[in-house]
Amino acid sequence: MSQPASKQTERMEKIVSLCKRRGFIFPSSEIYGGINGFWDFGPLGAELKRNVKDLWWKSMTRFRDDVVGLDASIIMHPMTWKASGHVDTFADPMVDCLLTKKRFRADQIEPQSGIIYSYTGARDEASGKEIDEPYSVLLTAGKPPESARKVAIQFYAQRGLTNPVLLGETTEKVENTTRFNPENGSLLTEPRMFNLMFKSHAGPVESDENVVYLRPETAQAIFVQFKNVLETSRQKVPFGIAQIGKAFRNEINPRNYIFRSREFEQMELEFFIKPDEVVEKTAGPVATFREGEWPQGEPQPNWGWQAWHLYWVQERLRWYESIGLGRDSLELHWQSREELAHYAKATVDILYKFPFGAQELEGIAARGNYDLTQHHNTSGKSMEYFDQEAGEKYIPHVIEPSTGVDRLVLALICEAFDEEEVTDEKGKTEVRTVLRFHPRVAPIKVGVFPLLKNKPALVQKALEVRDLLRPHMTVFYDDAGAIGRRYRRQDEAGTPFGITIDFDTIGENGPATEGTVTLRHRDSMKQERVKISDLLGILLPQVQ
Ligand code: GAP
Repeated sequence: MSQPASKQTERMEKIVSLCKRRGFIFPSSEIYGGINGFWDFGPLGAELKRNVKDLWWKSMTRFRDDVVGLDASIIMHPMTWKASGHVDTFADPMVDCLLTKKRFRADQIEPQSGIIYSYTGARDEASGKEIDEPYSVLLTAGKPPESARKVAIQFYAQRGLTNPVLLGETTEKVENTTRFNPENGSLLTEPRMFNLMFKSHAGPVESDENVVYLRPETAQAIFVQFKNVLETSRQKVPFGIAQIGKAFRNEINPRNYIFRSREFEQMELEFFIKPDEVVEKTAGPVATFREGEWPQGEPQPNWGWQAWHLYWVQERLRWYESIGLGRDSLELHWQSREELAHYAKATVDILYKFPFGAQELEGIAARGNYDLTQHHNTSGKSMEYFDQEAGEKYIPHVIEPSTGVDRLVLALICEAFDEEEVTDEKGKTEVRTVLRFHPRVAPIKVGVFPLLKNKPALVQKALEVRDLLRPHMTVFYDDAGAIGRRYRRQDEAGTPFGITIDFDTIGENGPATEGTVTLRHRDSMKQERVKISDLLGILLPQVQ
């Protein structure tokens, strides 16, 4: 059941606080006051991120014969971005609050209804000086007219009047307007388009000729290198190129913690396919699917763009499930005709139900052959592929599953976060904070604890266990404090397993339990006695 908004806000605040306290995420350059839209990943965050990227990379490239990898430069020839359309159209509409100067993305302002209080200007009570600049304030339901007047007085005071008297007040009822600041009701500026690419200069001279851009997506490098990869990897269409890397967008309004940042990482696949006409020629009628129908089994020669698109949606959902994001935490949003890019045939967004609402985690787009055609035309270099089976040349079409590492990390943390009341053996009740990460993504897989740190035989055995496991997984050795507190620390870090070396382990209670340890499971808190020699066999299949 969904929780009320205040509970969700509280949950998000707890998550942000835990991430800072436990070293998952820090504000970038915090000692200088931070920088809006930039974040650093601390020791646990860095491990979590690395696990996510490794799992994506393995599932996309190593476990498939038909996808190869690429690791391209962040700064590319600026013509790349002209051809892709980013120079001319990668822009968001921006508006500023006329009172506070706060900047918003015009298309993200929630429509509001109420009464507009408009003024033709204001006069200073003492000096008689007049300002004839019109200004308006939106008064939403439940607020007294005085609050609108107060905002207008602040506006004219900012323009130099000591004691403004408002002039020419008129009112008008309005519904669903996006022209006013939702925080204070002040009128906003007219929308202006703002290009989201970060600009710099390559080389020592800062001139228009050497302007370069930090890439706003990793995808374009894949298109630009299509021919090189094709020729060196001996792949045949259908095949894909995968890439993980940094992307930069000068977002007008970074928000929701790390959800919308200015620097982030993407994991993108461009999966090149035959145009439907070519499929038809070589494999007969192209497979078609009605709404709600999905392709089953292995890819088939008669698959056109629709089957491949649906196939990748399913593959990506399966992958999310394998790292702990089940179907009930995700939603699919099929973009409407109005939302679709002009060249796209279909796009499905996979949304995660964040505490601040269901928001895009990944987009899976059937992009036609728009990108390769643009580079073919702009560079003058052929992007055509000779299909031996069809006996003809064409520019391949593409299916693009594109996701963000940082967003996914946030989704995994939100999904894992839990608080539960537990009662200890002395009957004391406390709240246990636990991150229930899937063992595959958990930053630390196992904690190793000698029961007492001043008993050399326990410590030595514990270090042996640590060294046994270390080559295969991240292990955290901890001998500080009561064992219960050590367990709680690892619960908060999301460590799925804890191993305690006690007097049984070192044979002080007889030979039957010598060489055994307790294995504690984070979620159930249950403990079992297992042989040290069985540990790898038990843990490895769960964490890999
Ligand atoms: N090549 C297609 C492309 O870049 P996109 O929907 O703009 O498509 C793909 O971005 C994914 O990148 C998003 O689904 C999201 O996960 C991530 N992403 C985009 N902008 C982001 C931002 N400002 N902060 C964090 N992640 C972002």
